Amino acid sequence: MARVLSCIQPTGDVHLGNYLGALRNWVSGQHANDVFHGIVDLHALTVTDTPGELGRNTIELAAMLFAVGLDPLVATVFVQSHVAEHSQLGWIMECTVSFGELSRMTQFKDKSAKREADFVSAGLFTYPALQAADILLYDANEVPVGDDQRQHIEITRDIATRFNHRFGDTFVLPKAVTPPAGARVMDLTDPTSKMSKSSETEAGCVYMLDAPSVIEKKFKRAVTDSDNEVRYDRDAKPGIANLLDILGAVTNTPATTLADQYHQYGSLKSDCGAAVAEMLAPIQQRYNELIGDPAELGRLLRIGAEKATAVAQVTLERAHRAIGFYPR
Ligand code: TYM
Repeated sequence: MARVLSCIQPTGDVHLGNYLGALRNWVSGQHANDVFHGIVDLHALTVTDTPGELGRNTIELAAMLFAVGLDPLVATVFVQSHVAEHSQLGWIMECTVSFGELSRMTQFKDKSAKREADFVSAGLFTYPALQAADILLYDANEVPVGDDQRQHIEITRDIATRFNHRFGDTFVLPKAVTPPAGARVMDLTDPTSKMSKSSETEAGCVYMLDAPSVIEKKFKRAVTDSDNEVRYDRDAKPGIANLLDILGAVTNTPATTLADQYHQYGSLKSDCGAAVAEMLAPIQQRYNELIGDPAELGRLLRIGAEKATAVAQVTLERAHRAIGFYPR
């Protein structure tokens, strides 16, 4: 049984990219593996400064994680700030990664550029060190993520390798696992950028809680091209390729097979919208039930925090012993 860990930030509404790229795989893997899933509020603090916002987003995200199908009896779902070991190992990771390595992270370059005149915290820069701690604390073999996180898993392997070399074999080397379809869902209005919570416009991002009419409208307005030929070509026809990828991921059909079945953009767009709305309807219904009982969500998160802490403590102690801190 593999140990699996993956996390998501409570930075706003969950979208279709999060679901197809990551959450759906978390759910399908939960019975075959020993799985840990974190709501990483400390990571979200790198871009949040409003009192109370993280707590509200955290409980809503917990409801969404259970609504998509994570079973609290099987999967360990926890909040990062409830498990102090993340911050503790995070510092050790900061001392194991170099300034140069962190400077090469594309996500830091993108995010800091997008924030322009906003405050760019040092945490935004050292973020991958904390992410390495998240993963290594659980001896994770596999990390199911979307394509955009590959670089962060690679740097985690580099950090673990360096630590093991310096202090002796301590950490398990994890590997990224991305889905065959849906690993990179693109923005509907700008199909050369990934779908993201921080998109320029709401129109390009399909949120898990969007009403069916909103979803269908967003797909109808998806940016394509003007030659009206349905064919799968990511470079020449990124808008059409994105729609084929999404429909393929939702219906479990290869995108190239779907391309042969469509001759017009209009029907591809409307089928895509309908398929996504149908997939999300039962999730939305469960979400609405769960969010009505925040006390129960809190109870489940406390159980998750206890289980996560039990594992994280053992690993942190192992790291402390390997370093050779003077014992207390
Ligand atoms: P976050 O919160 O941005 O996204 C959560 C998951 O959703 C995936 N994802 C996508 N997949 C496909 N297409 C998209 N457009 C898309 N947008 C997002 C992400 O790849 C991710 O799997 N740094 C992480 C959170 C994190 C983490 C970890 C992940 C912190 N510690 C440890 C794994 C292991 C992040 O910001 O994800």
